[in-house]
Amino acid sequence: MIDRMKWHTNRRTWPIPVAIFLGLAVLVACGVEPDPTDLLIDDRRVQDRVTGMVEAQTSLHVLTDMLSARVRFNKSNARTARKVLIRTMSHIPRDFRKERDDPLSRTSPHVWAQWDDFRRKADIAEDRAKDMDVRSWIRLRDTIAPLITACQTCHDSYRTW
Ligand code: HEC
Repeated sequence: MIDRMKWHTNRRTWPIPVAIFLGLAVLVACGVEPDPTDLLIDDRRVQDRVTGMVEAQTSLHVLTDMLSARVRFNKSNARTARKVLIRTMSHIPRDFRKERDDPLSRTSPHVWAQWDDFRRKADIAEDRAKDMDVRSWIRLRDTIAPLITACQTCHDSYRTW
């Protein structure tokens, strides 16, 4: 009896996964391979600059989580997070150089009208990331604030909503 019921249920639900599979197969065959990173922001450059920012945010969270004792201080992880922050901040001028817009982008057009100032803010953030001392919990606590201020200073001027 149980087997019969199972069989019935399976019979009724199989078309759904098969339909999804066929749908994807058709998309791939037409050359419209679904790319999950492409679903929201169409412009590749806009996508790259947002990805860099999200990466910076993730690394900053690694460090703030250690400071708040949500996770134990780990020197090696802290060093990696610092490196990612230096890299993402140093890439800002290159990531934003081309003026590109997207309905989902939060970049203000002032970035390009005041490019020198924007660049300077990016350089400052890179320097503040380098200044961060991750050799111990106390050193990290004493050196992280200027970086966070550098992120906020730029967002205040050049990020909308
Ligand atoms: C020189 C300017 C500048 C600096 C410095 C900067 N940001 Fe940004 N950030 C921006 C701009 C502009 C955007 C909007 C990007 C977009 O949506 O096109 C942004 C977006 C973001 C976003 C949201 C992504 C999105 O658009 O949804 C996060 C998260 C973020 N930044 C984190 C950081 C962190 C963390 C730091 C510091 C470690 C930092 N940013 C430093 C300019 C900056």
